[in-house]
Amino acid sequence: MRHWLKGRLRAGVDGFEHIVGGLATSMLALGTLVGLVALVAACLIGIGLPLVPGALRTVRAVADRERTRLTRWGPAIIGPPPLPGSARDALRDITVRRELGWILVHGTLGFLLGAVGITLPVYAVEDVTFPLWFRALEPSQGGPGMVWWRIDGLADALVVLLVGLVFAVLAVVLGPGIARLQALPGRRLLAPDGDVDLSLRVAQLTATRAAALDAHAVELRRIERSLHDGTQNRLVALNVLIGAARRALDRNPESAAEILDRAQDATELALAELRAVVRGILPPVLDDRGLTGALDGLAAACAVPCRIDVDVPGRCAISVEATAYFVVAEALTNVVKHSQATSAEVLVRRAADRLSVRITDDGRGGADEGGGSGLAGIRRRVEAYDGRLVLTSPPGGPTTMDVELPCGS
Ligand SMILES: Nc1ncnc2c1ncn2[C@@H]1O[C@H](COP(=O)(O)OP(=O)(O)O)[C@@H](O)[C@H]1O
Ligand SMILES: [Mg+2]
Repeated sequence: MRHWLKGRLRAGVDGFEHIVGGLATSMLALGTLVGLVALVAACLIGIGLPLVPGALRTVRAVADRERTRLTRWGPAIIGPPPLPGSARDALRDITVRRELGWILVHGTLGFLLGAVGITLPVYAVEDVTFPLWFRALEPSQGGPGMVWWRIDGLADALVVLLVGLVFAVLAVVLGPGIARLQALPGRRLLAPDGDVDLSLRVAQLTATRAAALDAHAVELRRIERSLHDGTQNRLVALNVLIGAARRALDRNPESAAEILDRAQDATELALAELRAVVRGILPPVLDDRGLTGALDGLAAACAVPCRIDVDVPGRCAISVEATAYFVVAEALTNVVKHSQATSAEVLVRRAADRLSVRITDDGRGGADEGGGSGLAGIRRRVEAYDGRLVLTSPPGGPTTMDVELPCGS
């Protein structure tokens, strides 16, 4: 019960605070509304037109104040793009029209609601404290605020106190509702409408992508991918070499020694990759040679003849380049392991701020994301960057993997 009461009181006080803020913006809106009416009249007699852009800027400024106020208190309201250059375009703009509608509603109804919402607690305080100061008044003057009757002595003053308590209860109970009602037109009309909302959200999401990538989970995934695509592939190669050495041991110990040398090299490479992962530097070759150099290296090392064509002016965010690198690495590993292809091709382009990577082979097709962990991991990795992956691999081939990534720079 005490908790409930406390919660109620706090909501009431919050409501009062919001009503005061809303009353302030509604007075600005009312002032603007009066100005706009005058401006329309001036336009009708042909002298107001030059003032229209200034008026629209004022409307925007007042609306922005309300946006800030509502954002501080509830769900954020995303600000609109800047006003169109010409007044004619601005008047056709849906955002501007909605702002004008808001000025009309908030400057009238919002103002009335604010006045009522503020009057209740003021009367409550006035009436509750009345027994303390009623002697200073002439009896013929009647009570304070909404109390009209003649006050004769303390008993009457105490009745006024009771009335004050009723006002106080009303203020606490109705306050939050009034505040919400007063904010409603702003929440409806000042928030971007459907389409705009989405494109703004997308822009915002892309912008916050870099921050999101710092998140713990993504970091773990990145390390998991690095281990799978880098170190694990090296160890697979090592395993193959050791197997070969073992078989060669009986027949031709000399060639076995040579294979073991290569195995040792492979171990060193694996260690180097592992160190790079541990240091969180992905993959080191990207740093040394850039995306083009790193991908050339991958294609040259591929056991299936691979044509590569990279045309990426400038540099993308290093994490995006690393993702592109791992996409190509995994795709080419798959070509060698599964496709039985006689040739492969890698095509990398940058258009605006999208990096597109396409890997094709002329193998037997039938690649299936459910068939292993590599492709599924690549997809997760790409989607963590707001990217897109399309895999086309009908049985009989050919296999094409298309990946698109936002460059993030
Ligand atoms: N380029 C390709 N050509 C033919 N089949 C492929 C190709 N890439 C992948 N596959 C098939 O899809 C399955 C899943 O691939 P992937 O997720 O990379 O798993 P894995 O760890 O086996 O490489 C593979 O097991 C293979 O059968
Ligand atoms: Mg694979």
